[in-house]
Amino acid sequence: MTRYHPLLVALHWILALMILFSLVIGGSGLERLPNSDPAKVDALARHMIFGSIILILMILRLITRVLSQKPVHVSNGSALLDHIGTWVHWLFYVLVFGVCVSGIGISVATGLPDIVFFGSEAPLPESFWDYPARTAHYVLTTALLALIAVHVTAALYHQLVIQNGLISRMWFGKRTD
Ligand code: HEM
Ligand code: HEM
Repeated sequence: MTRYHPLLVALHWILALMILFSLVIGGSGLERLPNSDPAKVDALARHMIFGSIILILMILRLITRVLSQKPVHVSNGSALLDHIGTWVHWLFYVLVFGVCVSGIGISVATGLPDIVFFGSEAPLPESFWDYPARTAHYVLTTALLALIAVHVTAALYHQLVIQNGLISRMWFGKRTD
């Protein structure tokens, strides 16, 4: 097997774009809008819908990953680095699910679905930071960003320095030699 399953490939790149977009917009836009700003409810609605789509696609991706054949993990010549590489891939699933679950945790704890989607007149809480799920969301999104930096550096190192064509494994094409 020389490549990942085409559905996994498609989901990898769609999710990479969606997750990076959420991290950037969530971090720079949403968070800086004070809860008293009238635009905040719409911004939260967009973020919550987008985040939930990420969660659904990530579940589909996990199912595809478990059911499909995949190429053997590429070797770096170091048993330790090979182990880290395998764990980084699984850690992505843990972190993305953790980010989504903590996001849902903030919204349940503060009654956001009623306010954002069902027209409740209740005000937003003064600050989301009074809720532990908000801290969890922050810690997990920061860890996810760091993991993406490690992952992209490793992928580019393989592609450009070792030149073993790693990125073609995560692209469409013939899957057997
Ligand atoms: C992979 C999916 C997601 C990503 C990458 C993401 C990213 C972010 C980021 C970067 C922030 C701002 C700062 C921070 O905590 O670091 C944030 C805030 C927030 N997110 Fe998410 N999020 C995701 C999913 C969700 C989901 C599914 C929900 C709820 C259904 C949600 C609800 C919230 C809420 C309520 C805030 C607080 C906004 C504020 O403090 O003003 N998120 N998210
Ligand atoms: C939010 C961003 C990203 C996430 C969450 C992510 C996650 C993953 C995961 C979990 C895998 C293992 C396959 C699987 O189980 O699905 C993988 C493989 C891969 N990713 Fe990413 N990725 C991201 C962004 C990127 C970017 C920007 C690049 C390009 C430099 C990239 C290049 C690759 C390559 C080449 C592989 C295949 C590695 C191999 O053959 O072992 N990824 N990615």
